[in-house]
Amino acid sequence: MNRNSAIGVFDSGIGGLTVLREITRLLPNENTVYLGDTARVPYGSKSKETIERYSFEIAAFLLKYDIKMLVAACNTASAFAVPSLKTGLSIPVTGVIEPGARAAAGATKAGRIGVIGTEGTIKSSAYTAAIKAIKPEAETFVQACPLFVPLVEEGWAEDEVTAIIAQRYLSGFQDAGIDTLVLGCTHYPLLKDTIASVMGEGVTLIDSAASTAIEVKKILEEKGLLNNGKAPGAHRFFVTDSPERFMAVGRRFFGENLAAAELAILTEN
Ligand code: DGL
Repeated sequence: MNRNSAIGVFDSGIGGLTVLREITRLLPNENTVYLGDTARVPYGSKSKETIERYSFEIAAFLLKYDIKMLVAACNTASAFAVPSLKTGLSIPVTGVIEPGARAAAGATKAGRIGVIGTEGTIKSSAYTAAIKAIKPEAETFVQACPLFVPLVEEGWAEDEVTAIIAQRYLSGFQDAGIDTLVLGCTHYPLLKDTIASVMGEGVTLIDSAASTAIEVKKILEEKGLLNNGKAPGAHRFFVTDSPERFMAVGRRFFGENLAAAELAILTEN
């Protein structure tokens, strides 16, 4: 493992490509290996024990590609498995929760922060804990939005149906007086316009993907592991099921230059 080794990024499926996109924008010379666990998605409704087990299986797979750091792009995996991945692996690990919490704590003026995510992420209270660790006086207001993920995957991010559902999920925040809302799920950056139009101009939306890319750069700099080559990075994609569907839907998340995905066989723990 050295500076030229790849950054490993994983998610329950395609959503983590929003995080990978930000990493490759900020660090265009870095090589990356992505694994989307499309055979076992969604993670958002599963237990901590299951998500921890899945995450360690994925880490073992990515370590075979000599990765120099691991990024849990999935909010649910970040909430449930990143603490144990950090202690269990010998390479640096980051999730998306701490970077997102830091950005939210920095953005709020009123100290009133909303958090949306999958059922698992919201149940874990990981964002609330991370926000309070930085800004103890902050108040958080949370809401699970389980219908958002399938709506985005269906390609309905801009559809009126999604606008109605967003109104229903988010109306509680309007009375809570929040000025900052954390988009605590890989898929929600694609709903930014819809969410912004429900929340209005006074609410800053925090996209953990961008803050996570900054965190990845900081960690690699600190460890002396930034790739200082000039060539554009190479990107490899693995999925545990249906590479074709991953590629078709993944282009919405990553852009047209998504390379062909390969099938990964994970070894069960
Ligand atoms: N990637 C998941 C997350 O960010 C959303 C999809 C799922 O439930 O697996 O929490």
